Amino acid sequence: MLNYSQGTGLLENWLISEMEFSPDTLGKCEAIMYLGNGYMGLRSATEEPYIQEKRNLFVSGTFNKAEENEVTELPNLADITRIDIRVDGEKFSLEIGKTKQYLRQLNLKTAELYRTFYWTSPQGKELKFKFRRFVSLDNLHIIGMKMSIESTSHPVQISFDSGINAQMTNSGSQHFIEGERRIFDKKFIQLIQTTNESNIDMVINTAHDLSINGQLVNANPTMNMGRRKVWLTYDVELKPHDKLEMEKITTVFTSRDKEFDTNEYSLQSLREHSLNVLKESFEIGYDRLFECHKQAWQSKVWSNYDFEINSDNSFDELAIRFSIYHLTVMTPAHDDRMGIGAKALSGEGYKGHSFWDTEIFILPFFVYSNPQIAKSLLTYRYHGLVGARKKAMDNGFKGAMYPWEMAWPSDGEVTPIYGDVDVVTGEQMKIWSGFIEQHISADIAFAVYQYYQVTNDQDFMDNYGYEMVFDTARFWASRLEWDEGKQRYHINNVIGPDEYKEHVNNNAFTNYMAYFNMKLAINYYYILANKNPRLLEELNARINIKEAIQEIHTKVEQIYLPNPRNEDLVIPQDDTYLQLKEIDLTKYKQQESVRTIYKDYNAEQINTIQVTKQADTLLLFYLLEQTFLHDDNRFQDKVKRANFHYYEPRTLHDSSLSLATHAILANDIGEHDLAYSLFKEACEIDLGPNMNTSDDGVHAAAIGGVWKAAVFGFAGVRQIDGELHINPNLPKHWHSMKFTIHWHGQPVTLFITQSTLTVKVSNKQQLSFEVFGKRFKCSDSITLAIK
Ligand code: BGC
Repeated sequence: MLNYSQGTGLLENWLISEMEFSPDTLGKCEAIMYLGNGYMGLRSATEEPYIQEKRNLFVSGTFNKAEENEVTELPNLADITRIDIRVDGEKFSLEIGKTKQYLRQLNLKTAELYRTFYWTSPQGKELKFKFRRFVSLDNLHIIGMKMSIESTSHPVQISFDSGINAQMTNSGSQHFIEGERRIFDKKFIQLIQTTNESNIDMVINTAHDLSINGQLVNANPTMNMGRRKVWLTYDVELKPHDKLEMEKITTVFTSRDKEFDTNEYSLQSLREHSLNVLKESFEIGYDRLFECHKQAWQSKVWSNYDFEINSDNSFDELAIRFSIYHLTVMTPAHDDRMGIGAKALSGEGYKGHSFWDTEIFILPFFVYSNPQIAKSLLTYRYHGLVGARKKAMDNGFKGAMYPWEMAWPSDGEVTPIYGDVDVVTGEQMKIWSGFIEQHISADIAFAVYQYYQVTNDQDFMDNYGYEMVFDTARFWASRLEWDEGKQRYHINNVIGPDEYKEHVNNNAFTNYMAYFNMKLAINYYYILANKNPRLLEELNARINIKEAIQEIHTKVEQIYLPNPRNEDLVIPQDDTYLQLKEIDLTKYKQQESVRTIYKDYNAEQINTIQVTKQADTLLLFYLLEQTFLHDDNRFQDKVKRANFHYYEPRTLHDSSLSLATHAILANDIGEHDLAYSLFKEACEIDLGPNMNTSDDGVHAAAIGGVWKAAVFGFAGVRQIDGELHINPNLPKHWHSMKFTIHWHGQPVTLFITQSTLTVKVSNKQQLSFEVFGKRFKCSDSITLAIK
């Protein structure tokens, strides 16, 4: 049972609390309360073990292929969180004995996990437990843990095992070759594991300190080693009211870390370095390490992003903070060779792979709030050109065909080939997206464009951006298929964002986005020809852009772009969608969990029904409006409205990516109550009462979508062809919202109420922007009446 209103005073809307322990729903808090810093993610499994638990520690970018017939994934590193506790020889577990005043809490402000309760053992001894844990944002390699056990009534003997346990797998797949284990000075434990295919060394060190009633004790532990496991056993006698405290400090390093991923690398020096860092950190101790971590959260995150919502429903503000918390812990901001996984670093789902989720749903937060990190994420895609060119070549195309799922940049396509059960045949369903879900290449080009428009970062464009746009456009030019009858280029046999329609021709989203991508390349080509011919020559020498641009030029205006139908202005999602049969979708629209349609139909059958998994055609109205295509008649407001009313009832939001887009569009077309209820549903994907939604990990794109719905939806912020537009429309019960965006290198703070908009620029550079059709300029601060 989750609760969001435990925080009061300074902690109001900062605490996510679990008020009761339930071994059947462990996945929820393990995932939504996971800790991380972009370097690593630590799932918040409880210290004491339970059958239903999932213990995960992932380090970004450490991809490995466990077996030849599997795809590469982030391996689950050795665990340091498990502590096996015995009270007078009896196993401690919340499944036995009696528990009272149970509380588990994630403090979003300090990024600390806290758990406390009273537990009475089956023999009747009552103890008070407290656990604390953090993954440092100050030093990305450090994990701190603290445990305290107080005997409230009787003398007790406590014993516990704690160390490093590498008996971990990814649902049974073993990624590691066992390395050396060692205990130094009966205190500092070191364990090494090496991935069996990518050959990455992981070095984990840990150490414990024990005190009773504040006095350090030399507990003289027993040293143990087992297969893939090394641990210490401590035995302590407690008198009534004695308090045992244990601190456990851990460091995690890998040979993939930038500083070590060099030709001079040696495991020995990594071992020494990591052990030294452990010893230094251990000396500093939990409290001071935590203080630095807390300050890092304040300076890098909360002061920086500065987001406030004053709403009658305080959950709204908490949900935004939850979103910013997770956007921070999921993002490998330290290394531009790494991307964000669809389930962040919180679970095995989607194997740590990056999808279009990043560019379309997560990146906007960084583009507007922390452009440096946005740049790093786009640079990851630049490095990925290697894999994208390989995929294009393997498929007989030119240019860069980005993988639907991307892992290490040079891997190319890593989408698994088989997935869930087919309810009709009992076989494994084939996953087609790695073959035919191709819009991702255009989505990445769009992201480059959006980043450039909002930041003006010319340097990025010169070094990376132009090349990405040219090579994706070239892919599309080679991908188009000439239809002799229609005298048009078609894009056949694809999957659009709506994955419930496989092997369709002319998915509107794909065709329009490909068109945008090609037009963008042409625009950039002429800009470069005028302004930077030297760079154009350089690019030409490398990727032969002049020849490609000719092909792009001749083909682009002949791409088939489905028009809105005369009778109702609906843009056909693909060539056949509007002719498919319609069924009563009420049951699925009202479902409590997603994808229930698969209980009744298999993929082939769903392909024949007018039902849409997630925002598809509608997404075009939101994306293309931001571009030079914004005044295309086909995207006028009345067309937007007609399409929204057509597709929303047919969209099941069976992908967590969907709701935020519909929330933004509902707001655009004046359906404000619907917009808010879609926003709230989006917030509840991870935070809602359904306790199983996050078992495989949190929904990274939905989390980005929550921020988008608030900023692009309710605050009405939009970049339209290089101009800043702000058309706010707060939900009725929101009194105000305040946040900072970065526009052309300058932080701009927006304060919005029901009737006013205040814009404040930080660097006193003149800002020009449009509010409900009127242009304004300001080089300091301006307040406008908006109603
Ligand atoms: C969605 C995709 C998404 C993927 C990863 C799928 O269910 O349909 O659009 O990229 O999940 O989040």
